[in-house]
Order: sequence, then C-alpha cells, then structure tokens
Amino acid sequence: MFRGTITVPGDKSITHRALLIAAMADGTSEIINPLRSLDCESTVGCLRALGVEIEEHEGKTVVHGVGLEGLQPPAGVLDCGNSGTTMRLLAGVLAAQPFVSVLSGDDSLSARPMGRIVEPLRQMGALVKGRAGDQFAPLVIRGGRLQGITYALPVASAQVKSALLLAGLAAQGEQRLQGKIGSRDHTERMLEAFGAAVECTDEEIVLRPGNRLRPQIVEIPGDISAAAFFLAAAAAVPGAEVTVDRVGLNPTRTGFLQVLQEMGAELAVEERGCAGGEPWGSVSVRGAQLRGVTISGEIIPRLVDEIPALAVAAALAEGDTVIRDAAELRVKETDRIQALVEALGSVGVKIEALPDGLIITGPARWRAGTVDGRGDHRIAMALLTAAALSDEPISVLGTECVSISFPTFMEVLHTLVQGA
Ligand code: S3P
Repeated sequence: MFRGTITVPGDKSITHRALLIAAMADGTSEIINPLRSLDCESTVGCLRALGVEIEEHEGKTVVHGVGLEGLQPPAGVLDCGNSGTTMRLLAGVLAAQPFVSVLSGDDSLSARPMGRIVEPLRQMGALVKGRAGDQFAPLVIRGGRLQGITYALPVASAQVKSALLLAGLAAQGEQRLQGKIGSRDHTERMLEAFGAAVECTDEEIVLRPGNRLRPQIVEIPGDISAAAFFLAAAAAVPGAEVTVDRVGLNPTRTGFLQVLQEMGAELAVEERGCAGGEPWGSVSVRGAQLRGVTISGEIIPRLVDEIPALAVAAALAEGDTVIRDAAELRVKETDRIQALVEALGSVGVKIEALPDGLIITGPARWRAGTVDGRGDHRIAMALLTAAALSDEPISVLGTECVSISFPTFMEVLHTLVQGA
C-alpha cells in the first residue's frame, strides 16, 4: 500500500504571494511552476480586475507588474472565492491604494474572522468596514497613504502578518511586527528577493518602506502541504515507501515531518537547492508502526494545515495522539476539529474534540461508512487518504473541493495505490 515517487503541484502560499508581489513590481515577472487551482485563480481574477495583465501558460505565469501605485480601481466587487489568503493579503495591498474596493467570498470565507486584519489596517490609517461589526466579509476598503505602525500580532497568522507587510511597502515610516510572528515566512523571503528592505529577528520583523520592487523570475517548489497527505499516510503503513521530489522545505512549513519522526517514522529529507530564498528538495518515507505523541505549543503554526493529514496517521498509530493549542483549526475553511471528529469517528476512529485540539486513540478498527468533506479541501483529502488506507469501504462525498488547492490529487493518490 502506497509506493512510488511523485511530485506535487506548486506551493499554494508561495504562488499567491508571487502573483501579488509581482503585480506590485516595476515590470514583468515570470512565475515558474505556479499552482493552478481555484484558490490561486481567485488571486489572478482579483489582480486582473485591478488592471494587472497576467498571462497563464503551461507551467508558467507572466505578470506585468504595475508598480506600488499602479493598480486601477476595480469596476465591480472583487471575488476571493474560498481563499482566505487572497482576501487577507489583498486587503493589505488595497489598504494602501487611493480608491474604494469591495472584497467578497463564498459562504465559508464569509464566516472566517476578518477583524484580525481590519483592526491593524485601520491603525495604519485605512478606512476598512466589514459585516457584523467589521468582523466578517464582505469588506469595504478605502485606502490611501498609510502610516507604518508597531503591532504585536495576537494570533500566529501568516495571512495577517503578510497583509501588514504588503500594506507597509509604501507607508510613511517603518512597519514593526512583534508578538506571534512565528508562522510561515514566505512573504518576508519573497519581499526581500524583490528588493524590499525587510529584517527579521526572533522578536520582530521590520519593513523599511521606500524601495521599489524589482521584477523577478520566481520558481515555485512543490507544495509540502499537498505532499503531507501521502507522506503522513505512508509513514503509518508498514511496507509503504513514498518519495516526493522537488518539494518546498521551508522550515516554517515542515513541522509535521518532525512530528512524524517523533511518532517513529523512517524519514529522509534531502535539501537540493534554494530558489528565491525558498529551500527545496526531496522527502522519502518508509512505513512503520507509529506511536501516538503530543503536539502543542510553538510547533502548531508550522504544521497547522497538516493536522488533517496527521490525524489520519494518528488513527493508525498505537496509543494517544493529543493535539493542543490549535484552536485556529476552528476558523479554517470549516471547523476542522468538528469535521475530523464527525467524519473519522463515524468510520471507526476513536477521536475526541478538545476546545483547541483533538485526542485520537489508535490503531483504528475501521468501519464501512460514508463521510463528507464539507467543502473543505484539506478535510476531503485527509478523508480520501483514510479511505484508501482503510480495510473497509469508505465513501467520501463532496470531493470536488480538492480543486481548491490540489486539482490532480486523485490521480496522484491512484498512482501511489497502484504502485503498491
Ligand atoms: C496561509 C496561512 C495560514 C494557513 C493557510 C495559508 C498563508 O493561515 O492555514 O492555509 O498562505 O499565509 P493563517 O494565516 O490564518 O494561519
């Protein structure tokens, strides 16, 4: 079960950032191996509506950047679809533009917290309004010349951090971010590659405005969060052997590899290069009988998107896996704690919700059943992997949503199952 060498599509977080940052650069950038998925198309669509010319070719996207102040007022509402990254990062960009924009999204995105960006963008001087006391989308933004601020992030969110860095590019005075800054750092790395003055220490990130952004050729590594479903599953099945090539290895994203190792997985990680500040390489895993562990504290932001994949590995592991400090899971595309408990619980996994996490007691005794991805791509992919590993028939409903981040997921899953 689960054998083969695969590659996965380009990284979603890095693709969003490449599109947005290239749009604000002075001239034409090329993005090689971008993720072409519904979420990234939301960012492309919004940027086009703001007057940015974008050409999408096979394996490459060309962005004709308009500079920091060249975006045009959009004629209609900017549709961010299901994508929190599009809405939050774009809000940061638009807060610095001297026109009115309206950002909307689907039902899931309209239920996700936006107060976390509204508040600091207002402190910088933008006028931002939202539904239900400015907590939710749709958002209305009247941007303009902003003031750099010192801001302590109350949540470890890369989307909030990135929105504030993008808003700070043309502000008056430095932008200083402190507090919970230990989340994925792709924006910091990419802004630096485009020529912005960003300095990062463990305590703070300082952006000094004034630099123009220079167009770049950006190579996007494979998405480690997409690879995680196969790596976590293979790690938990004795006899499985999976290698993922050309995958991103940014340490702010590889927390789940550390956890799999603590659970007893046989892993080999080989760094092969670095492009635009982003390390990449290959990860190989051999299946073993895993044991449960506790996952909590500072590692959580470094694996937050991989918890659905880890939950499947935990279901196969011996003993308790306890996940704490992960209340953010409740405000993702769906309440992922609830979704995992309901779906995995109904097919024989011993799983219990905590306010900020999960307790999973393995190994599972699978039961046949039908589960629902609830329109959440990572829940759907975790359930599809569980179904592939289970010795009982499990049907997964609502799997179209895998196209949000990984349109070829089913093909890759079949390759690995057939390789067995
Ligand atoms: C992302 C940041 C994380 C992550 C999301 C992508 C990003 O969200 O869960 O899938 O690209 O910045 P938060 O910023 O809400 O933690």
